[in-house]
Amino acid sequence: MKVSIKNPDQIEKMRVAGRLAAEVLEMIEPYIKPGVSTGELDRICHDYMVNTQQVIPAPLDYHGFPKSICTSVNEVVCHGIPSTKKILKDGDILNIDITVIKQGFHGDTSKMFHIGKPQKHLQRLVTITRESLYKAIEIIRPGTTLGDIGHVIQQYAEANYYSVVREYCGHGIGEVFHEEPQVLHYGKKGAGLVLREGMTFTVEPMLNAGKRQVKLNANDGWTVTTKDGRPSAQWEHTLVVTGDGVEVLTARPDEPFYRA
Ligand code: MF3
Ligand code: CO
Ligand code: CO
Repeated sequence: MKVSIKNPDQIEKMRVAGRLAAEVLEMIEPYIKPGVSTGELDRICHDYMVNTQQVIPAPLDYHGFPKSICTSVNEVVCHGIPSTKKILKDGDILNIDITVIKQGFHGDTSKMFHIGKPQKHLQRLVTITRESLYKAIEIIRPGTTLGDIGHVIQQYAEANYYSVVREYCGHGIGEVFHEEPQVLHYGKKGAGLVLREGMTFTVEPMLNAGKRQVKLNANDGWTVTTKDGRPSAQWEHTLVVTGDGVEVLTARPDEPFYRA
């Protein structure tokens, strides 16, 4: 396995890309409400990225993906395609996944939004999924293994009666959008790659309220939904392993690990 180590100059560029990706999620929040379409949210994000931030929206034309962001509602696990026909309604949960390219480097992050006031069980799924990501981030430092990360997420998800999606995972990231290593969201303590200072990768757990199995929409080739039709949630950050811990390159000001 050839996992690249980024030098300080590359990490600084990852910091810039990460901050810009995080800022798109902050920018779009006030537009997210019942009655808006996911296509409209894509248009607003696209314009902001291209014209204001002067970044490249990485999803656009990535292996043929047709839009600039991913919007995944309720039972959609990931890679939802924005559409002006998909109108958000009170009680929905929505994941927006943003990836930007700046100075050749990627920043990749996603978060969940409540549309109006979702039912308590949906709010709980969203919260536990976020906490599973945060618990993984807490243990990352040189010497932590990828198995440790997967174990922490799986353990917390299953203790809360949720299942972990296995077909999609986190990934190394840098000048390449998806590079080695694969970061599984399930696993065994102490197994797998040992993390070292300068590694950059995402952690992006997808938790299902029901069974873990997913299906790919054969019509569009992208949209992943739960097989049982029950809801799914996802949160994602881009991280760099530091000398004594981890830096969250896509942290937002409302988060515990944000550094101004
Ligand atoms: N941002 C997604 C990830 O976390 C990948 C989206 S690829 C796309 O890895 F083509 F669907 F946009
Ligand atoms: Co990612
Ligand atoms: Co992403």
